[in-house]
Amino acid sequence: MGAGESLMPRHLLDISSLQPEQLERLLETAAYFKKSSYRGKELDGKTVALLFEKPSLRTRTTLEVAALHLGGHAVYLDTRQVGLGVREPVKDVAANLGRWVEGIAARVNKHETVSELAQYAGVPVVNALSDAHHPLQALADLLTLRERFGRLEGLRLAYVGDGNNVLASLLEAAALAGVEVVVSTPEGYEPPAELMAKAGASLVRDPHQAVKGADAVYTDVWVSMGQEEETQRRLRDFRGYTVTPELMQSAGEQAVFMHCLPAHYGEEVVEEVVYGPASVVFDQAENRLHTAKAVLADLVGGR
Ligand code: CP
Ligand code: NVA
Repeated sequence: MGAGESLMPRHLLDISSLQPEQLERLLETAAYFKKSSYRGKELDGKTVALLFEKPSLRTRTTLEVAALHLGGHAVYLDTRQVGLGVREPVKDVAANLGRWVEGIAARVNKHETVSELAQYAGVPVVNALSDAHHPLQALADLLTLRERFGRLEGLRLAYVGDGNNVLASLLEAAALAGVEVVVSTPEGYEPPAELMAKAGASLVRDPHQAVKGADAVYTDVWVSMGQEEETQRRLRDFRGYTVTPELMQSAGEQAVFMHCLPAHYGEEVVEEVVYGPASVVFDQAENRLHTAKAVLADLVGGR
């Protein structure tokens, strides 16, 4: 592989497709982009299609702004208008888009949809969230941790709540970066066992025990997009797993609070914690932009 050639896989569907050095390079690039308020020409004349089946604030905005900062352009496509898999098959949509744009970022209900897009598009595809993974979020999370602690290796992160897409990507990222993860979920909401094993993560049911001595306490919504029908059951099952100031106290003074957002106040977290002194949630949100730029520059721009 020649100097300057992309180290990234052709697509970014999950974090486990990255090698540790690729992850490191993405974080380095993102940190440099942040420090230098970078504007470049990596995407000069290039277009990225944003194909979204679910709502978004952070992912959509940061990808659009990232494309602009790199001299390119983003086209937002609401899948109800496109009729993804309804008006025409996913693979036909992919094959068409690949003839017009240089990259696709897709937010999908089923992970298989983003895999199928990658299979047929002929251009790089980025997973902008699926039911199983949220790789762009995990990159921003690692950048935030690295900024706060000056390192990743050996940090201890306690995740309290649902074993969902955000946790899956965090576990994969933690495995590559040497972050120790303690997971605290109610019974039946654990992440896939192979992801726990790959990250060497431990399961501690009691959130107060789980967070003890953690450098970071992380949570996410109990009801993810697409699970609305399970709301009542989930609200009942997750009782006791809310991140409160008392839970942060159990963690200790060193602990930062993390959340990918959006937050459902009074469920997985109370507002006081999100706006409290330990919170780095808006750093995470800001870092979504810098990491999105690093991903687009590499995958689509070939930087
Ligand atoms: N964290 C995150 O992905 O936010 P959006 O759903 O607003 O994109
Ligand atoms: N787990 C959440 C993350 C939102 C960014 C969801 O999938 O809805």
